[in-house]
Amino acid sequence: MKKIKAIIFDAYGTLFDVNSAAEKCKEKLGDKWEGFANYWRTTQLEYTWLRSLMRRHKDFWQITEDSLDKSMNFYNIDNSMRSELLSLYKVLSPFTEVRDTLKKLKQSNYKLAILSNGTPDLLNELVVSNQLKDIFDDIFSVEEAGIFKPDSKVYDLPINKYNIEKNEVLFLSANTWDVSGAGNYGYNTVWVNRNNNIFDKLDFEPSQQINNLSELLDLITIYPI
Ligand code: LAC
Repeated sequence: MKKIKAIIFDAYGTLFDVNSAAEKCKEKLGDKWEGFANYWRTTQLEYTWLRSLMRRHKDFWQITEDSLDKSMNFYNIDNSMRSELLSLYKVLSPFTEVRDTLKKLKQSNYKLAILSNGTPDLLNELVVSNQLKDIFDDIFSVEEAGIFKPDSKVYDLPINKYNIEKNEVLFLSANTWDVSGAGNYGYNTVWVNRNNNIFDKLDFEPSQQINNLSELLDLITIYPI
């Protein structure tokens, strides 16, 4: 088996809980908070894919705002909540097991990085507000490629910086389409399947599947450094 030189994480939905912004407004949003959060996320992702196909790039923050506007409209949410939801989106919470797992992983010799649709500023604020900045050797943003995942130019970024082979990367994402994109590109992939979901049918299967990030600590023992 090829040695793994870098462990690379998707950010939104994998390390950070994208529903946590709406969840923190549960009282004000009422029962619809979860449907609204899912709608916002789905619209946001659709906009990334559509803009990439149309070659009309806008950064992830602008797309997050545009998709929020459509979602608030669809769910009839008062515009007074807009700035609160956006502020909360900048400081999303990590999933419960993330901090401990990353700290343990930091004791290994792998390069640790994030590769995300987020802008450099957004990603920096996320890791700083969650005291995770010291963990990562690099934070790669799609802004460097000017197009969103799953375009191969995005997955090229760490390969070019580290001068390593595609199969020397272990890439983790909770987003099935991101796992397919990264697998299609040539990374070893781990699907973080927290909610017992069904994988996409896009001609790629994840190399490995775990139920939460802490299982990565056992998993990496099969990958030589
Ligand atoms: C990201 C999206 C996929 O962080 O959630 O790149």
